[in-house]
Amino acid sequence: MERTFIMVKPDGVQRGLVGEVIRRFETKGFTLIGLKLMQVSKELAEEHYDVHKERPFFGGLVEFIGSSPVVAMVWEGDGVVAAARNVIGATNPLTAAPGTIRGDYGVSIGRNLIHGSDAIETAQREISLWFNEKELASWQPTITPWLYE
Ligand code: RTP
Ligand code: MG
Repeated sequence: MERTFIMVKPDGVQRGLVGEVIRRFETKGFTLIGLKLMQVSKELAEEHYDVHKERPFFGGLVEFIGSSPVVAMVWEGDGVVAAARNVIGATNPLTAAPGTIRGDYGVSIGRNLIHGSDAIETAQREISLWFNEKELASWQPTITPWLYE
């Protein structure tokens, strides 16, 4: 089953949107298999956003991610990587579609509330960066036959 890494960024935690984010993924039908609130080190933030290290916003982004706790999660389900990106919405909350998390709750690209892995390979890399295997629970909700035929 496909897995993705989702992080409620410091602004999402400070604004009290953790429950709303979890609710959206739960009610969609995805399965939560890992969850923790944590203060992110500079090293972890840099490694996570390594792909952007040459970009002008990199320093500010790394500083922001470490500025206040985040909530890191792993979600599981068919097609969850791409579907989660749709639930989250476009990078710039001002142009993100209404009904998406960023479209409904954000106004600025540097405060876009939430991260989601952008591809299956990225998801695997990010999950192993943020979680130990022991922190992930392999379980199948009893409602599964009501979600998948
Ligand atoms: P994320 O990785 O955080 O899920 O966001 P994303 O895929 O939608 O966007 P990405 O291009 O990967 O950019 C990573 C994060 O960097 C910040 N950013 N700031 N000031 C800027 O022009 C700018 N561009 C990107 C955003 O917080 C974005 O989520
Ligand atoms: Mg990205």
